[in-house]
Amino acid sequence: MIISAHNIKKSFKSGKTNTLVLNNVNLDVEESKMVAIMGVSGSGKSTLLHILGLLDEPDDGEVLFFGEKVIFSDKKKLAIFRNSYIGFVFQFYSLINELTVLENVLLPTMINGIIKKDYARELLLRVGISEELFDKRSYNLSGGEKQRVAVARALVNKPKLIIADEPTSNIDENNAMLLMTLLRNLQQSLNTTVVISTHSKKIANFCDITYFLSEGVLANENNI
Ligand SMILES: Nc1ncnc2c1ncn2[C@@H]1O[C@H](COP(=O)(O)OP(=O)(O)O)[C@@H](O)[C@H]1O
Ligand SMILES: [Mg+2]
Repeated sequence: MIISAHNIKKSFKSGKTNTLVLNNVNLDVEESKMVAIMGVSGSGKSTLLHILGLLDEPDDGEVLFFGEKVIFSDKKKLAIFRNSYIGFVFQFYSLINELTVLENVLLPTMINGIIKKDYARELLLRVGISEELFDKRSYNLSGGEKQRVAVARALVNKPKLIIADEPTSNIDENNAMLLMTLLRNLQQSLNTTVVISTHSKKIANFCDITYFLSEGVLANENNI
């Protein structure tokens, strides 16, 4: 398993009410698979993906990365680990508008100081971004293009795991299908692992396996 979550509990306090979002979630993700987490808005998909991406700590339970327990308390070590092993694609692209397309893709490489310009260019071409866009500021791009740049950025450090939180929910249907086709092809050819959240069955159909999150409980497609 590349990543496992065991008995994960997570709740959020707002005022005096405590909302239990994840109630004993268990998940084992096999290497080189593409896994979908389906659920309606508010079901806890982002909460779960933030924990799997080591961005947030569960209240209870443990996360294992290649069988080793993740220590959430050492923030600095965790940040370095995350940068080397995990790539992220977010719902609202999270590109830096003032930077160029190429600079955005290179951003995760600047943290470890190994600039991989040639690889960044190659990835951009593979996600269908033409060379004349490389030096344009990213705010000039369409939503679909921005998300494809975000996929290139997520891949630039050759991560073992990609966490994609509703990457298609702000782009139109055609662009969503294009993005998923590209992501699936890249996942297979680069032999990486993807965990993607979505509320769409059509998006989940690109994946090897689908889980459903509802009322804090994660169920396998065979169990519903
Ligand atoms: N940081 C937070 N503080 C308080 N409540 C939160 C926080 N993050 C998420 N929640 C709540 O947890 C529930 C699940 O949210 P989320 O994981 O974002 O669901 P989804 O991604 O499936 O839409 C929602 O009720 C949301 O309001
Ligand atoms: Mg969400």
